[in-house]
Amino acid sequence: MQHTVRITVETARPEDFSRIGEIGVAAYAGVQLLSDEYAAVLRDVARRAAETVVLVARAGGEVLGSLTLAAAGGPYADLARDEELEVRMLAVDPTAQRRGVAEVLLRAAAEWAQEHGYPALVLSVVTTDGPRTPHRLYERLGYRRDPARDYVGYWEGHPQMWFYELAL
Ligand SMILES: CC(C)(COP(=O)(O)OP(=O)(O)OC[C@H]1O[C@@H](n2cnc3c(N)ncnc32)[C@H](O)[C@@H]1OP(=O)(O)O)[C@@H](O)C(=O)NCCC(=O)NCCS
Repeated sequence: MQHTVRITVETARPEDFSRIGEIGVAAYAGVQLLSDEYAAVLRDVARRAAETVVLVARAGGEVLGSLTLAAAGGPYADLARDEELEVRMLAVDPTAQRRGVAEVLLRAAAEWAQEHGYPALVLSVVTTDGPRTPHRLYERLGYRRDPARDYVGYWEGHPQMWFYELAL
């Protein structure tokens, strides 16, 4: 894969927070109906950086995307259990998509999890319209579905979610 500018990943810094929030809202607005409540959660990067780990991808100093890593039992984990670490809020700036940014972020997440002794990364993805870009991305990187942990129905109209796991 060719990149004109190298993509690097590191823990987000306070000066990145507002940009990460805006990217989250812009990216998710493209795939699902975004409630004001969820938009506010996506924008509150300061809180999740304090309570979890937020990784940020940059190229040439510019923030292009991010993801959040949430341990089981914490406020940001939807489905992680035991020692699993959950990937949440993966988002890439719509103008920087299809350049491999998400792949670099997910590889860095796996490295971070391994270094910190987690045995698996888990995540879930909206599947209302059938498999799309994120599903292909996860499967290419070695994530496996576990249909027994798929879920639907946190609230009225909640989309069908597929569960994926990457053993580390
Ligand atoms: C899903 C998402 C994070 C992917 O981000 P991304 O940075 O575009 O992902 P990548 O570039 O790594 O891969 C996306 C596609 O671009 C392709 N691609 C990557 N680098 C490329 C390059 N240099 N040239 C051409 N294509 C390339 C990949 O092969 C992949 O193709 P595929 O869809 O056929 O499998 C992004 O679309 C997004 O933010 N979506 C909205 C939020 C969301 O759905 N998040 C996931 C929730 S679970």
